[in-house]
Amino acid sequence: MRLQIDTERNELILFDGATEQRSPLYSARAFEILSELWVKVGWHEKYSYGFSWLGRPIIQLPEDLIRVQEVVWSVRPTVIIETGVAHGGSLIFYASLLRLLGSGRVIGIDIALRPENRRAVEDHPLGGAVTLIDGSSIDPEVVARVGAYLTPRDTVLVILDSDHSYRHVSGELAAYAGFVTPGSYVVATDGIIAAFHDLPGGKSGWQTDNATRAAADFAAANPDFALVEPPRPFDESRVRRSPTYWPGAWLRRVR
Ligand SMILES: C[S@@+](CC[C@H](N)C(=O)[O-])C[C@H]1O[C@@H](n2cnc3c(N)ncnc32)[C@H](O)[C@@H]1O
Repeated sequence: MRLQIDTERNELILFDGATEQRSPLYSARAFEILSELWVKVGWHEKYSYGFSWLGRPIIQLPEDLIRVQEVVWSVRPTVIIETGVAHGGSLIFYASLLRLLGSGRVIGIDIALRPENRRAVEDHPLGGAVTLIDGSSIDPEVVARVGAYLTPRDTVLVILDSDHSYRHVSGELAAYAGFVTPGSYVVATDGIIAAFHDLPGGKSGWQTDNATRAAADFAAANPDFALVEPPRPFDESRVRRSPTYWPGAWLRRVR
């Protein structure tokens, strides 16, 4: 693919093999093309490794955090389960939203949680709302420990942000989808790697070995879940395809 940006004629031209696609520069289509490339270059340059939430590093695209905040507001979970903790910023992010909503707990699972990150989360002003579990998210013992924290009164949202391979995410979906309450979601994050196989350092296998495919296959086999984009509480934008690391990630429990 080649891209030509002409700020004198206000035109964006996309050359893809034998085809040539022209769009007005100031258009939703041009924004989508530019932001897809922005997301891709940003992934390579570790753009998402430059943010923190209330003092803890959070490894997310800020656009995705705003979207998941919209879902937390509408679903009102009492428990958020997240696989993949790293520095704990996303756990503190979810804990802060639940605190603002009144109450709720966050459960984080990581196979390689560093002691300094555990300490920082536990000592954080919101640490009391977070439970950390060490181990692989697909280990049946770990899954049973998570389940033991839940009660039938809970509303449960699940975020899968650990190992993003097809096999692992499929295993997580099988293990955690049952915890999700009707109307809530399980989110298979970071499927964007499918489009990044040709990046320097990318792997051709990512085209099929990714979370988006795992979510699509899970939805096809499980009628209790539908692949949807969560409705936007406010949307006066002309842009339909927003920048995200989480394409095809949102599995809504419909019954
Ligand atoms: C992308 S980071 C998580 C980022 C974090 N959610 C945030 O927003 O800041 C992925 C984490 O998943 C963990 N991980 C990898 N494989 C795992 C597995 N099988 N089970 C649980 N955690 C795993 C890694 O140790 C790493 O800390």
